[in-house]
Amino acid sequence: MLGLEVLILEQEAGRRSDIERALSKEGYTVRFAQDGPSLLAELGSHPPHLVILDLDLPGNEGMALLATARSLQPALPVICETELPEVEPAVEAMRRGAYNYVAKSGSASYLLETISHALERELMAVETRQRAKERRVRTFDDPESLAAIDGILSRHDYSDSMLISYLQDIQKDLNYLPQDALRFVARRLNVSLPRVYGIATFYKAFSLRPRGRHLVHVCLGTACHVRGGQKLLESFERELGVPSGETTYDDRFSLESVRCVGCCGLAPVFMVDGKFYGKMTQEKIPEVLSRYE
Ligand code: FES
Repeated sequence: MLGLEVLILEQEAGRRSDIERALSKEGYTVRFAQDGPSLLAELGSHPPHLVILDLDLPGNEGMALLATARSLQPALPVICETELPEVEPAVEAMRRGAYNYVAKSGSASYLLETISHALERELMAVETRQRAKERRVRTFDDPESLAAIDGILSRHDYSDSMLISYLQDIQKDLNYLPQDALRFVARRLNVSLPRVYGIATFYKAFSLRPRGRHLVHVCLGTACHVRGGQKLLESFERELGVPSGETTYDDRFSLESVRCVGCCGLAPVFMVDGKFYGKMTQEKIPEVLSRYE
């Protein structure tokens, strides 16, 4: 992990030294922020690869910092630490975008493993974004793709009253609604772009991002989170090679996390194309995925 920088805001001197020792040994470059404002200043001037944030800062400042840090750097993994882990703050931290919520009393090896997974995930996200960009440019900025969309519009004589049908057909063909396609539809039908976007974002069946042939939903509701939902999600990410919210390069799977899907007794739970898999373990994931081509 040479060259990867970890920025730490931790109020306890002993804990600071412990983390620094463990991370330096693994080759990470460690920097410390003295307080909230200096942490945010560092994020703006010299963003690290990962942040470790003490959630026990007085006045619930840690939670507020977490939200601000994530809004400044949405892709930045933030690991929250606390002396006394509890379910409610854990859920709140995850809701605010924490990568994970760990106990300060946990082992150094667990923290290192968590950091390594977080950075691996971030790397995957960068690669996936790059691939998605290449795919978008290759597929939809060309006259041939636009002619195909024009063919769909001509099926109903370019009538704007058939807008939903057009979008359904485009999504069926392309598996999602690319921005280029929506702009082209608005122009060709002579309707406003907000109207087209309004419909595309209103119906859950439409997706503005590429989706794979199969949709995997991992539940991160409270019951599933407590019983290892996050670990399950990380295993899917490793198995599929993409972070949550993305699609595999071969368009086979899209991976998403969801809140409670209503069968907490079976936690941890995931779904593939709407089919429920309960009481799941990481070891069962490859076998389940192999059922979907
Ligand atoms: S929390 Fe996962 S099913 Fe309820």
